[in-house]
Amino acid sequence: MRRTANRATMNPRLRLLQPYPFERLRQLFDGITPNPDYSPISLGIGEPRHPTPPFLKQALCDATLGQPGLAGYPATAGEALLREACAHWLQRRYGVQLDPLTQVLSVNGSREALFAFAQTVIDPAADAIVLCPNPFYQIYEGAALLAGATPWYAPSLPERNFAVDWDSVPDDVWQRTRLLFVCSPGNPTGAVMPLEEWRKLFALSDRYGFVMASDECYSEIYFRDDAPLGGLEAAMRLGRHDFRKLLMFTSLSKRSNVPGLRSGFVAGDAELIRSFLLYRTYHGCAMSPVVQRASAAAWSDEAHVTDNRRQYRDKFAQVTPLLSDVLDVGLPDAGFYLWAGIGQSCGGSDEAFARALYQHYHVTVLPGSYLAREARGHNPGAGRIRMALVAETEPCLEAAHRIRAFVQGHHP
Ligand SMILES: Cc1ncc(COP(=O)(O)O)c(C=O)c1O
Repeated sequence: MRRTANRATMNPRLRLLQPYPFERLRQLFDGITPNPDYSPISLGIGEPRHPTPPFLKQALCDATLGQPGLAGYPATAGEALLREACAHWLQRRYGVQLDPLTQVLSVNGSREALFAFAQTVIDPAADAIVLCPNPFYQIYEGAALLAGATPWYAPSLPERNFAVDWDSVPDDVWQRTRLLFVCSPGNPTGAVMPLEEWRKLFALSDRYGFVMASDECYSEIYFRDDAPLGGLEAAMRLGRHDFRKLLMFTSLSKRSNVPGLRSGFVAGDAELIRSFLLYRTYHGCAMSPVVQRASAAAWSDEAHVTDNRRQYRDKFAQVTPLLSDVLDVGLPDAGFYLWAGIGQSCGGSDEAFARALYQHYHVTVLPGSYLAREARGHNPGAGRIRMALVAETEPCLEAAHRIRAFVQGHHP
């Protein structure tokens, strides 16, 4: 009796959450025995796997063993030392000036911050819409649903080089939009938003009053000469020096190969930061003081970031041409994914492709349709696969050779 009652009192919005892509992948592969002649190679999860820089591990040890170590509760906003290091990085990287005490906030990685920010912004009584690209990082959707908003998906298609088609959003949707997620560089597309697109979004934000959350956690892994434009940088270039209605989200996970550290920051509009800090005080998500010290060291060093980027560039330069011969794929602007069209392989079904590739060649890729939603009769991820080139170069090359053989119809 009691059990049933408890279930009935659960937050009904939990039932709206979609299974995570990796859970769907597990079900897709259920019952398959992969070919034992091949060792497993996973291009599925986008988890950085280059080694953590030794100086960062040392900084963690030093902070643990030094004073005050782990004695004492950390402040939710983060220590000044860390926020100043983040503000200095923003200045070096984007040429923007922010006040570390009112415009920068430490967070435990961008994922929790993107989620929590939606809870801060959305009024569940207001019939709000949260707008995001399609395909997208699934946290945007879950954050919107649990905040009591309705997600709306704006397509990002190969015809437009994966630029999001904001013009396809109807006026009545803009009217109800309270929060817009931008992902640049994009996951999974790798596309970077140019200044003109920012200009358009700022004009729309001024007109309709929505807030923008700019997810930039892939900004330091790029393949062209110019580093990706950031949201704060775009705002500054367009004369929006107060960064009104804009927060950028970033982290050390990809930049410094420390996904396990859980360290990032948000920066921008001081008013948004103030409300977000209030929310976070209750949420209880202050960053460990040890992690704060190590993070300050990481944001202050650029040599390891340059070296990491060089490793990705070498790897992508070798792997991409092997795959672009057989799939619809090219070098992305940035990020560590290849977002490939499979053409008529496996009847054009991304699920069938991923399943058969796993079965015959023991290579894991993610079906593109798992990263997008069907909207207005079309799933923009259908017929595509996402490959995360996070492992070392050798296994990525080996995977590329197996995928080539698979697409060319050699099924062992
Ligand atoms: C687009 C995007 N945003 C945010 C994150 C979260 O990363 P983290 O919480 O490690 O900063 C990820 C992780 O893969 C991602 O792909």
